[in-house]
Formats: sequence, C-alpha cells, structure tokens
Amino acid sequence: MPDVQYDAVAPDHARGSIEKFKLGKIAVRKRVIERTAGESHFHAVRIPSCMTIALGADHAGFEYKDRIAEILRADGHTVIDFGTHDATPVDYPQYGFAVGEAVASGQAERGIVVCGSSLGISIAANKVPGVRCAVVTEPLSAELARRHNDANVLALSERLTGWEMIERLVDVFMHAPFDGDVPSGARHKHRVAQLFEFDDAQQARTLIAIEKGEVTGAVTPKDLL
Ligand code: RB5
Repeated sequence: MPDVQYDAVAPDHARGSIEKFKLGKIAVRKRVIERTAGESHFHAVRIPSCMTIALGADHAGFEYKDRIAEILRADGHTVIDFGTHDATPVDYPQYGFAVGEAVASGQAERGIVVCGSSLGISIAANKVPGVRCAVVTEPLSAELARRHNDANVLALSERLTGWEMIERLVDVFMHAPFDGDVPSGARHKHRVAQLFEFDDAQQARTLIAIEKGEVTGAVTPKDLL
C-alpha cells in the first residue's frame, strides 16, 4: 500500500474492500448521469486552470515524479502524491492502481505515473475502470492522447526519456484539450463513450457477482476483470 502524501484533504483510499468498490459504483453512476444529460459530461471535464493531479511512481520513477510535482505546484495545481518517496524497491502495480483509482473516483482530475520504462505502471493504471492512461515519449503522442483519447493519466519513463522531454510532455498533457468537446470532434467523443460503456458493463458484471455471493474475500475490480 503506497504511503500517501496529500496536499488536499482526500477520502480514505483503503484498498481491497467492498466498500471501496461501492464508491466506484457511485462514480460510475455519476458518469452515466452526466453522460445522459446531453453534452454536459464532456463540457464538465473541460480543462480548468488549476486541477488536482494524482502522482505515483515506483523506485525507478520517483525522482521524475517529485520534479513533476514541483512543476505542477508552481503552476498552481494541487498534487496528491501517492509515492514512492525513495529508491527502496517497491511494486509498480500498487502505485498505478492508486493513481488510477484517484482519477476514476474523481478525487483527482488527472494522473501522472512514472516507472523505469513507463510500461508496467501504465498497465496497472489502465486496469482501473474509467482510466485512459497513455504511454508517451514524444509531444505529438501526448497531444493526440488528449485530443483524440481524452487521456486522463499520463505514463512516463525515468530510464528512457530525458528530463527536458518530460517537461514538454507534461506541459502538453496539461494543456491540450479533448477534441470531443467541440462538434467537429464528435467521432472522438463517440469512441471515448464506448470506453466508458465497456467499463460500466464490466463493473455491473462484477457487482452482480458480488451480490450473488460468487466472489468473496478481497474484492477489487482488478481481481475480477
Ligand atoms: C523496475 O526495475 C522496473 O521494472 C519498473 O520500473 C518498470 O520499468 C516496469 O515496467
């Protein structure tokens, strides 16, 4: 379980409980309500000037993660730092899950994850329903991840990408809009909506399994999907 440092008061992020999963259910319901209220969902998530950003990294990514936190705070954003905070070896999945869950639950508007390659932690973040995590190594991909995919988590590599490029990637990720917010980008909105629908269906199946008693013990979406 990552050691969490909060800039802002945030709800307990206890893992592996049905209670937490029910929180996820509420978040899904909220998204469905927003989506069915016409255009409101996508306009509701337009880029505000100051956002809450969840950060997470393993021991191979924490130095970049800390530097990214400084940049974001200097720009006026609130940072929720899920760790890790030093070079002691840790398991990247826990940090990817923590950031993904913060974003999917609405605790944070965006997330940035860093590991040695960016790959493992991105895979973990993408296990969380509602997360659209993009591995990015150059600016055009960062822009397309926002414009076409409405990426809400950015995955970066501390071992393969230089710091100057990281600064550019973070800048693009934080500022590029989602094209689905304007009528000419309706196809992108339609495609991202399909991702929401798939997640919703998966979560519904999981909840049914819980209610039927088919699943016991530590229950989280990652155990079931
Ligand atoms: C850690 O050595 C490394 O495997 C990890 O940071 C990441 O690259 C995994 O995908």
